[in-house]
Amino acid sequence: MTDTLAGAVTAPMVRAWIEKSAKVLADNRAHLTELDSPIGDSDHGNNMDRGFKAVLEKLPQGDDIGAMLKSVAMSLISKVGGAAGPLYGTMFLDGAKPLAGKTSLTGEELARFFDDAVAGVMKRGRSDVGMKTMLDALAPAAKAFREEIANGSDMPAALKAAAKAAEQGMEATIPMQAQRGRASYLGERSIGHQDPGATSSYLILQAFSDAVEEAVQ
Ligand SMILES: Nc1ncnc2c1ncn2[C@@H]1O[C@H](COP(=O)(O)OP(=O)(O)O)[C@@H](O)[C@H]1O
Ligand SMILES: [Mg+2]
Repeated sequence: MTDTLAGAVTAPMVRAWIEKSAKVLADNRAHLTELDSPIGDSDHGNNMDRGFKAVLEKLPQGDDIGAMLKSVAMSLISKVGGAAGPLYGTMFLDGAKPLAGKTSLTGEELARFFDDAVAGVMKRGRSDVGMKTMLDALAPAAKAFREEIANGSDMPAALKAAAKAAEQGMEATIPMQAQRGRASYLGERSIGHQDPGATSSYLILQAFSDAVEEAVQ
């Protein structure tokens, strides 16, 4: 592992992240749909798989990270119906805004990406942590990533901590009562089920950690 690679996220790493996300979401299509069946309408696996297949088709060549992430956003917004498409689209769009033209990202730039992404979902979804949504995985991950970078961790270690925080946040949705989205219509009956969106968010962050880990090996 070289210092340069461990200290930055490069454009090929971002591309590998997007490709790995598409693969992991395809592999977990049935699982995500199963989670969306007791507290939703059994389409989350399909939505995410279809969305990321479209993302791969449209992903631009080249090393402009902002352009890649903006393209991800536009594909998700245009191809995925329901709540998750526009929310994930907003997440990538708002996160990507300051990254136009960048071919590698420092820890601080990636921390800002995560913070902007979380803020975008909160604004668009009028939601917050504790409402049993994707934010319960995304927000703790963004926080953990920023803390790791502030403490001097390298990129693979910080992303690993972010993925771990997302996994714990995902599990923490089980006892929650949903306050946003279709699951909220169930009231107390939404308690005891893991949120599908928090699960896909965890999978996407774990894919990021794995992609960067593999790239620096
Ligand atoms: N207002 C919101 N804010 C944040 N996340 C939300 C919101 N509404 C729904 N979600 C997320 O979207 C997920 C459901 O996505 P999906 O099944 O694809 O869409 P739909 O609910 O329209 O069928 C939920 O599990 C939840 O994590
Ligand atoms: Mg659904």
